[in-house]
Amino acid sequence: MCGIVGYIGPNEATDFLLEGLRRLEYRGYDSSGVATIHNGDLAVTKTAGRIDDLARTLKQYPAPGTIGLGHTRWATHGPATDENAHPHIGGRRVLALVHNGVIENFRVLKQKLTQLGYTFSTSTDTEVIAQLLDYELQQCQAAARDEEQITEPYAMLVEAMQATLSQLRGTYGLAVVFRDWPDVLLAARLGSPLVIGIGDGEHFIASDQSPLVGRADKIVFLADHELAVVTAKSIRVVNRDAGDVHHTVKMLEVDESQVELDGFAHYMLKEIYEQPETIRNAMRGRLNRDSATAVFGGLNLTAQQLRTIDRIVLTACGTSWHAGLVGEYMLEAFARLPVEVEYASELRYRNPPLSSNTLLFAITQSGETIDTLAAMREVMRKGHPVLSICNVVGSTIARESDGGVYLHAGPEIGVASTKAFTSQCVVLALLALYFGRLHHLSYEAGLRVIDELEALPDQVEQALETNSDIRRIAGKYSRCNNFLYLGRQYNFPAALEGALKLKEISYIHAEGYPAAEMKHGPIALVDENTPSVFVVPRGGVYEKVLANMEEIKARGGPVIAIVNRGDEEAAEIADDVVHVPVVADFLQPIVTSIPLQLLAYHIAVLRGCDVDKPRNLAKSVTVE
Ligand code: F6R
Repeated sequence: MCGIVGYIGPNEATDFLLEGLRRLEYRGYDSSGVATIHNGDLAVTKTAGRIDDLARTLKQYPAPGTIGLGHTRWATHGPATDENAHPHIGGRRVLALVHNGVIENFRVLKQKLTQLGYTFSTSTDTEVIAQLLDYELQQCQAAARDEEQITEPYAMLVEAMQATLSQLRGTYGLAVVFRDWPDVLLAARLGSPLVIGIGDGEHFIASDQSPLVGRADKIVFLADHELAVVTAKSIRVVNRDAGDVHHTVKMLEVDESQVELDGFAHYMLKEIYEQPETIRNAMRGRLNRDSATAVFGGLNLTAQQLRTIDRIVLTACGTSWHAGLVGEYMLEAFARLPVEVEYASELRYRNPPLSSNTLLFAITQSGETIDTLAAMREVMRKGHPVLSICNVVGSTIARESDGGVYLHAGPEIGVASTKAFTSQCVVLALLALYFGRLHHLSYEAGLRVIDELEALPDQVEQALETNSDIRRIAGKYSRCNNFLYLGRQYNFPAALEGALKLKEISYIHAEGYPAAEMKHGPIALVDENTPSVFVVPRGGVYEKVLANMEEIKARGGPVIAIVNRGDEEAAEIADDVVHVPVVADFLQPIVTSIPLQLLAYHIAVLRGCDVDKPRNLAKSVTVE
């Protein structure tokens, strides 16, 4: 949700800023801008629209300078206009600032600054930070003059920044450049990620690691309440309220192929096709045939401690919440533990009675979703252990949780989550196996689960072979404006996820339902222009779902059915069928999700939608 980049070094800043913004565009794409300092002047170029629009403007009006920052925006306060785009200017073009996050008390601060004589040219919360920083800087400068102090080079900037940050309520990832200090860049974070890349005599700032690929191989993650003073040759990290902090240098964990399209038309399609491999990565080194269980390196809780857990709560948002639903079925079936799945946005403000042996899992691709983070903090505050299932290494949720499991799916750039979902389901299957083996699951049953998991990547590969059938089916239905997605048991969350994929990238109204619930209301929607997508591989409720299919057909509704290979029965009822391989029931939502992802993808392409950057969405939702 908003992307930030910064550069300081010997080269032209805009080269990196534009390239970096393109890699971060998935975080927000309604407007963008850059600020550079050159010959004692602060130049700010910004525009509503995509990075390409900004690039065109910069081509026409270049912004030279070897220090600069950039921003790609997902609007929170104020519409996506040129004025509201970042960077925002503080004082009389004294500083330029970019911000990711939300300042909750910006109205109060704005009022205070207005009384002090400041005027505002935008309706954003960010401009308030820029003006407040200018004000605090003036206070520091006046105090330094009065006391005739000669302070060390950037002490005044740090002091002004600390004074500013301490007045902000909300979240921020910030980067600032100062016209009169052209050799330093400040960055600060609270709740919105920032990473510093270490180059050869140059430093980079970014919201995540992807812009740093090819530029830096060493990085420093900034933690909450930290601010960094970055010059071309040095990094100093200071706590917002205290002194210097030792910073740890880590290696960049993203490579070039992970952030390039690699010949695919869209990141979403690339990521759909990566799934056999990402599923392998989620399992790699985690299956142990000797003990017929899963092994994890980072749970940070002993088997003894985990054995005492008598209730599991899974919390997440969106697609990750759907994975949680799949996990609920798996954990209940294998471990016989009571499991609840909670929307993080609801859990954070509820006060559910949790028994003392309740364990919370926070499931999140980005590791930055603010609701998931807040729900997790709330449960931790009450003394419960919290583990995370995260994709982004070093993300806030991964760092703050007591331990967890990484997905190792690589960067997910398409805004619609695909490979992270299937990896989350796989990790939850591993956890179900692990908890099952701690409780009721026999050695033999554990081995069977391992066999089934090990076969999964090839089966997903086969599910991808449905692509051309799906493209044809997409052509047939792409003009429909309403879809139903129906499935039962393990395939109910798959139906929810299929519907979410379609609506978010093609803007078609789609609803996912447990197939039998359809009779309790949604069936009223059925007509010849409302296709129902049935997720109906063979299993315990297969016959019953076929009956639901008949009910739709009897009312003239077209039926698309995702069925197992060799299934003739369903094919007789449905208008269109897609065949996926036979897998164990707990793995069905993973395999059936593949054609559902492809269906959403092809329909969106046929409707001319911007698949990787759907309107109004952003990849990581760091605001409430
Ligand atoms: C949908 C999608 C979102 C995310 C949700 C949670 O395709 O991507 O629904 O799943 O915003 O994000 P994470 O998993 O990063 O916490």
